[in-house]
Amino acid sequence: MTTDGDFSEAGRKRIADFYSTRDGQSERIAQRIAACLCDSGATTALNRLTQSGQPTSDAQSCAIVAILAVRYGRILPEAAEFLALYASREHAPPLALAVVNLVARDKSRRTPQTNPYLRKTLARYGLRPALATAFAGRLNYPKYGFFDKQIIRLIMAMTGGVADGYSDIDYTDLAQVDDFAAEIVALAQRSPGPKLLSRP
Ligand SMILES: Cc1cc2nc3c(=O)[nH]c(=O)nc-3n(C[C@H](O)[C@H](O)[C@H](O)COP(=O)(O)O)c2cc1C
Repeated sequence: MTTDGDFSEAGRKRIADFYSTRDGQSERIAQRIAACLCDSGATTALNRLTQSGQPTSDAQSCAIVAILAVRYGRILPEAAEFLALYASREHAPPLALAVVNLVARDKSRRTPQTNPYLRKTLARYGLRPALATAFAGRLNYPKYGFFDKQIIRLIMAMTGGVADGYSDIDYTDLAQVDDFAAEIVALAQRSPGPKLLSRP
């Protein structure tokens, strides 16, 4: 039997998975989430946000996932554009939002209350996502140019982290990513989807 809430063949839920990245870590996280969603029986479209126009493939989705890298204290311009557009929509599907940054390597700094970038982003766009978290990103000094390296060293030193200028450390907590994916599945199961939302 098919119900609105299950992922059986006729009732497969469509979930749109967006990400913005410069160095690739947010893409890896978004890919892992997409794989978890597919394993749960959902249909998922993975979309990279770019500065040359936003994809619009969330039509008919019952949830939207956004995995957004942080640089210099804020999300990337294409992500800002995406969230502004989302915030302006009247019947947008529920949002599962995650920001990726190094402050979140501290487990206690991964919530809307404790992660400064997540808190600022929600306030700036007046968003009330169904799910919101911060994932720790990757520290990759060999990849950074001179200027970026000095800034990251400063951020790391200020937060008691590795400031040596040569380490490459992946801080992403994969169990946290998988838990977030499971929460998205539960959200999609609860969501009636856009067709039902537009019924009188
Ligand atoms: C130029 C630059 C600026 C960054 N600024 C911040 C920052 O302000 N706060 C922070 O916590 N992490 C900061 N980071 C760390 C990134 O958020 C982290 O490397 C993340 O994995 C980047 O995501 P991406 O690989 O998807 O681009 C910065 C990294 C770079 C290279």
